[in-house]
Amino acid sequence: MNNEELRMKSEEFKTTGMTPEFVARAEQIAKPYEHKQAALLPLLRLCQERDGYVTSEVETWVSEYLCVPLVHVHEVVSFYTLYYRRPMGKHVIDVCRNISCTLRGGEEVLKALEQHLGIKEGETTPDGKYSLQTVECLCACEQAPVLQVDGGHYVGSLNLENIMEALPK
Ligand code: FES
Repeated sequence: MNNEELRMKSEEFKTTGMTPEFVARAEQIAKPYEHKQAALLPLLRLCQERDGYVTSEVETWVSEYLCVPLVHVHEVVSFYTLYYRRPMGKHVIDVCRNISCTLRGGEEVLKALEQHLGIKEGETTPDGKYSLQTVECLCACEQAPVLQVDGGHYVGSLNLENIMEALPK
């Protein structure tokens, strides 16, 4: 895509706040792929890094930009828990809900966190500090039950005694 095409694309998508710089970054992400549709996951990630979550307007933009059916973009965003569809708190706590963690007390861990934070799974504390959600296997079953903080830091071997220490301050 040349500069003029990039400029036109960014004009076209002004309603989603897509600046020429953002469109250029999207182009860089899609460039290495033989089929630009393959850039769907990293492009959604880029959008989320910018906005904090993926809005339906952004889904539409991504769909048009990559020439991928909107329903497919929406399915991806709603399938993967790493994409957020609403504003999230400063810290996102992902509690594993899969079999190994469930067998080793994951449900009790979740209940304790809900009680401590005063919210249910899928909600954010009123002060915007924590969002709590459940996710599929975090691939750390040997440490079950496990949670993940802010998409990267794992805390395992959780129990009712050490669970609160897992929360970032
Ligand atoms: S089942 Fe929880 S990390 Fe695998």
